[in-house]
Amino acid sequence: MAFANLDGVGDNLYPRAGNAGMDVVQVDVAFDWYPEGDGVTGVEGTLGAVATLDVKLTADRPGLQFDVGSMHVRSAMIDGTVVTVSHTDGELVLAAEQLFHRGDSHRVVVAYVGRPEPIDDGTGAEIAVGWHGLGEHSYVASEPSGASSWLVSNDHPSDKAIYRLSVTTPDHLEVVATGTLRLRQPGPRPATTTWIFEPRDPIASYLVSIAIGRFDLTEDRAPRTGVAIRHAFPEGRMAEFAPVFAATGAMIDTLSELFGPYPFEVYGVLVVDDSLGYALENQTLSLFDTDLGLNAGSATVLHELAHQWFGNSLSVARWSEIWLNEGFATYAEALWAEQRDPSYDIDEAMAEKWRNGAHLGPIGEVDRHEMFGPAVYQRGALTLHALRRTVGDDAFFALLQRWVATYRNQSVTTAQFVTMASDLAGRGLDDFFHSWLYEETMAPLPQPPFPR
Ligand code: TRP
Ligand code: ZN
Repeated sequence: MAFANLDGVGDNLYPRAGNAGMDVVQVDVAFDWYPEGDGVTGVEGTLGAVATLDVKLTADRPGLQFDVGSMHVRSAMIDGTVVTVSHTDGELVLAAEQLFHRGDSHRVVVAYVGRPEPIDDGTGAEIAVGWHGLGEHSYVASEPSGASSWLVSNDHPSDKAIYRLSVTTPDHLEVVATGTLRLRQPGPRPATTTWIFEPRDPIASYLVSIAIGRFDLTEDRAPRTGVAIRHAFPEGRMAEFAPVFAATGAMIDTLSELFGPYPFEVYGVLVVDDSLGYALENQTLSLFDTDLGLNAGSATVLHELAHQWFGNSLSVARWSEIWLNEGFATYAEALWAEQRDPSYDIDEAMAEKWRNGAHLGPIGEVDRHEMFGPAVYQRGALTLHALRRTVGDDAFFALLQRWVATYRNQSVTTAQFVTMASDLAGRGLDDFFHSWLYEETMAPLPQPPFPR
């Protein structure tokens, strides 16, 4: 029997990300945060964790394999039995000498410890991703491949799981995380508190986030849909940040009408006292740094919210097709303006975007260093506007809604989008998408009269 590429799930941009034949269904991580050092390593900012993973095999394979960065793995068990551990180059292999069978499920427990640090994952953006320490405080920004800086996971958006986070911190610190706070109780040691967060829906590993610090929390509901909103701002600075995000409820309502119901049980933003340089759509809890938190225009606020549908509920199956995230979130900014402001002419705005972006290259299959570049965002948005003006509003918005409803909590490809678009338009759109996504030069935008 041959096992192809055991190190990764087969992503052409991140060949070591994820693991072939593995479906991680649930990850329950219980960890202690020791800002002063854990008494074992003595190093401040240490994390000691026990992760319990429910895994289902989707293929026969030797060993069970996960992505873990520089954390030190102390021991592991499969179904209650201690197993051999090999950990090299971010790949954790358990019980390599055993054959595991397709269709079988196993419970895996991994104990690990260390001082989590951001990973330089070679994304051309040259940014470090993952766990970001701020002295006693910390937060997580992982896109695309930083989750293994602190989690044991199948680190690829094609395998989502329920990540339950149980965190014990000294009493003077607070915790916010993706999902909903289920329990807050005195911790096992004196002067500690344990916080347990769990999301209703599965999350791609890169969108799981936690922050430890001191926060001002707000609670609200979207006016029409009633979606629960909770924001977390740096302590004492609510008055500065709250106005920037005041339209969140109205945005949730508008996007719910355009795309279908908000996909998760709660939404909000976390503003961290750091300079990250970009915002990130962590699932149910988008992340902003203080600079963006103060100066983000409504476009950025809207953009991260729109990712909850496009990127989070529907995730990319291949990182090279990230236009399915960024093009959609960028076009959503224009849809919001169109809904909101009667004097906004979306055709005029897109024509201007086209002129400014006339030089932008193809986006259908990008390289690592292009993933967060302007082409993916701007040509991606233009592709959607051109599609709308080609098939008409009725087919276009029906497509967005069907896309979101059909693939909820799953991972998607461009090919699936092209197929669905062609079905709804009642004709093949291969040539249209080939031109917009893969040809060097951008096609002209369709001109009026437009079909309805
Ligand atoms: N996905 C983020 C957004 O557009 C942006 C982002 C994530 C990013 N990681 C990045 C931008 C790295 C530049 C570099 O909402
Ligand atoms: Zn984005």
